[in-house]
Amino acid sequence: MKKRKAESRKRKAASDLDVRFPLSAFGFPPTLRWIGGVDGHLRLIDQTRLPVELVEIECRDAQTLWEAIKTLRVRGAPAIGVAAAYGVCLGLVAKRKAESRKWGRGEGEKGRRAEPQTPGSPSPRLPFSPSANATIDEDRFFARLDEVTAYLATSRPTAVNLFWALHRMKQKAAGLRGAMPPAQIAAELLAEARRIHEEDREMCRAIGRHGATLLSDGQGVLTHCNAGGLATSDYGTALAVVFSAVESGKRLQVVVDETRPLLQGARLTTWELQQRGIPATLICDSMAAQVMREGRVQAVITGADRIAANGDTANKIGTYSLAVLAAAHNIPFYIAAPSSTFDLSLPSGDAIPIEKRDPREITHGFGRQTAPDGINVYNPAFDVTPAKLITAIICERGIIRPVTRETIIEKVSTGQRPVIPVS
Ligand code: MRU
Repeated sequence: MKKRKAESRKRKAASDLDVRFPLSAFGFPPTLRWIGGVDGHLRLIDQTRLPVELVEIECRDAQTLWEAIKTLRVRGAPAIGVAAAYGVCLGLVAKRKAESRKWGRGEGEKGRRAEPQTPGSPSPRLPFSPSANATIDEDRFFARLDEVTAYLATSRPTAVNLFWALHRMKQKAAGLRGAMPPAQIAAELLAEARRIHEEDREMCRAIGRHGATLLSDGQGVLTHCNAGGLATSDYGTALAVVFSAVESGKRLQVVVDETRPLLQGARLTTWELQQRGIPATLICDSMAAQVMREGRVQAVITGADRIAANGDTANKIGTYSLAVLAAAHNIPFYIAAPSSTFDLSLPSGDAIPIEKRDPREITHGFGRQTAPDGINVYNPAFDVTPAKLITAIICERGIIRPVTRETIIEKVSTGQRPVIPVS
C-alpha cells in the first residue's frame, strides 16, 4: 500500500515536470522562465523538492510567487530579484484578466479581491481595472503597481536584489507614465523583466570569467549554501567561478558545506556539481575548520545577499564563521556577486536587515523533530562578514581588491541604481 502511494506520488511529481520546454545543456530546465506574452506566467524549479525530485511549478499571480519566495521554492539573491521583476507583471496582469472575466458576466467592480493562496500571507487589494476614463485607468494602474511592489517586497528582507528589481520596474513604469496607455506600459514592464533576466545571465558569466583567474589547477575550493545556477538565472556566482575554471581546464576539488538548517549546500550545490561532473565532497558545516587544517582547501568562495558600501557582506548564516576560519588558516576568502547585490545606501553591514526564520526549521527540519518541545530557538538566516575578512569581491565588472569603500565605489557606483527602502 505504502509502496503504491509512493509510486503514485512519484508519477505525480513526474507529470508536474513539463518537459515540452527546452532543457538546459545539462538536461534540466532553467531556474525560472516566463511562459507566453504579457498575460503569461512564470515557471520555476521548486527548489524545496531537490535533490529528490526535479519539479517545476507555475506562478500565475503575485500571491503564488510571494509564497514561492518566502518558502524558498525560488531562492538565492539574483534569482529572487528576477522572479520579483516577473512578479510585478503577474500582479498587474493576472488581476486584470480576472476582472475582465467578471465584467463579461456583468458583475461590475464588486467583490474584486484576489484570494490569498497562502494562509496568513498578506493579500493586497487589487483595484486595477480598465475604464472609459484614461486618467482613472492610469491612476489605478500606478496605484496597483505600488501595491504589488510593496507586497512582493515583504517576501524576504535581506537579499537586496529583490528591492533593486522592484525599484527598477517602478522606475521603468514611471518613465513611461503619460506617454502610453497602461496596457502598453504593462508590455514594456514585461520587456524590462526579461532584460533583468538576461542581464543577470550575462553578469553570472562575467563573474565566472573574472573569478576563474583566481583559482589554480588542483586546488580545493570550499563553498557554502548554493550560489549556483539555481540561485540565479543561470550559471551562478560563486559556482560560476568554479564552472568557468573547470571549463578552462583546471581540475578542482569542491568541498561543499551542508549549510544548516535548510541544507542548500547538501541539497542543491552538490546536485549542480554532480550534473556537471565536477568532483565534490559534502561536509557538515562544523567540519570546515578540520578540513582546512588538513590542507584540503586553498580558497573559499561564497555568494552574497547584500553588500554594504564598505564591503561588509551579508550571506547565508555560517559564511562569517568560514571567513574567520579562512583567515586563521591563511586561505583567501572570496565573495562573488553581481553589482545588483551592492547596496551603497548602507554605510556598513550593521544596517543590513537580517531575516529571522521559523524556529521549526531548526527543531523540525525536513519533517523530523530533533529538539524538545518548548526549547528557545534563534534562527537568523544570514550573517554579516566584515570587509576586512574578505580577500576580494568578484563582480561582473571585475575583481575588487582590496575591499574598501573606495575600491567598491570605483567599480560599482557607475550605473548603480539606488534601492527602495526596506519596509
Ligand atoms: O536563503 P537562501 O537560500 O536564499 O540564501 C542564499 C544565499 O545565501 C546565497 O549565497 C546568496 O543569495 C547568493 S546566490 C547567488
